[in-house]
Amino acid sequence: MGIPALLMLPLLLLGISGLLFIYQEVSNLWSKSAVQNKVVVITDAVSGLGKECARVFHAGGARLVLCGKNWERLQSLYDALISVADPSKQTFTPKLVLLDLSDISCIQDVAKEVLDCYGCVDILINNASMKVKGQAHKISLELDKKIMDANYFGPITLTKALLANMISRRTGQIVLVNDIQGKLGIPFRTAYAAAKHAALGFFDCLRAEVEEYDVIVSTVSPSFIRSYHVHPGQGNWEASIWKFFFRRLTYGVHPVDVAEEVMRTVRRKKQEVFLANPIPKAAVYLRTFFPEVFFAVVACGVKEKLNVPEEG
Ligand SMILES: NC(=O)c1ccc[n+]([C@@H]2O[C@H](COP(=O)([O-])OP(=O)(O)OC[C@H]3O[C@@H](n4cnc5c(N)ncnc54)[C@H](OP(=O)(O)O)[C@@H]3O)[C@@H](O)[C@H]2O)c1
Repeated sequence: MGIPALLMLPLLLLGISGLLFIYQEVSNLWSKSAVQNKVVVITDAVSGLGKECARVFHAGGARLVLCGKNWERLQSLYDALISVADPSKQTFTPKLVLLDLSDISCIQDVAKEVLDCYGCVDILINNASMKVKGQAHKISLELDKKIMDANYFGPITLTKALLANMISRRTGQIVLVNDIQGKLGIPFRTAYAAAKHAALGFFDCLRAEVEEYDVIVSTVSPSFIRSYHVHPGQGNWEASIWKFFFRRLTYGVHPVDVAEEVMRTVRRKKQEVFLANPIPKAAVYLRTFFPEVFFAVVACGVKEKLNVPEEG
């Protein structure tokens, strides 16, 4: 093999990487223009992913309605968005709404307030969610109900309150930020996984119902979103290369990447997105086609965790 042939491979790889990079940049720009002037409601806009969605949609020129439980955190997000506004692009002042999704009784009023303000909602991003971790028998029924309210009844009540408007206008998109745990049962997450399964079931059914009205239902299910407080540490070069290629496995997907994916989902009107590494993706297939194997693997993990001695 001659030297020119040897040089071909790196050049080819470089060319492909360049093309992929350009495609991604163009795709991001296109995504942003798709939400210009659209009324976008984001629940829990003050958390990691919600905040990044707020930044991405604000930069894209959306008319944002930012919902959250805490007024100070909403106000500081508002200040941050306004301070980075680019004068060359048209952006809109966000509307702030106090919303605790587990308080179902106030959701109708919130929906009315938004519709009275803008007359419509183009995109609803159901992002808020409450987490709990622990053994099922140690978690009170009251907490189970609260999780179900925040993660299932809250999002579906808000969706129902805005749906009639979307149906009458024959346009709209509802995005559910779910979790791979809406497809898989993971120990010590009973209430959370149950609520995520319920929400996925609801929105899968709704998708088919509202298709004829040109209302799109999308679900985005990440497996693990990186915490802002965890950063890949410095190490030797082998460790750094390993971390570079498997950083999503180790640290989870960065909230910015998930927010960009939510934006792409909106622009491409995708129905279902999994943002997971090969292992959790394989687990979903294992659960579907070989459930006994999946249950055995998961049970092994629990025994190890609880340090339960083997019988016999
Ligand atoms: N983090 C992950 O690894 C991961 C993985 C897969 C899927 N997801 C999904 O991604 C979405 C965003 O997750 P995240 O990790 O960015 O957020 P997060 O860190 O889980 O925080 C959840 C946020 O929701 C808010 N919240 C909780 N109960 C609420 C309620 N009743 N009404 C309104 N807001 C409420 C919390 O506010 P307070 O802080 O004030 O309680 C918090 O800001 C969620 O739907 C989550 O299920 C996350």
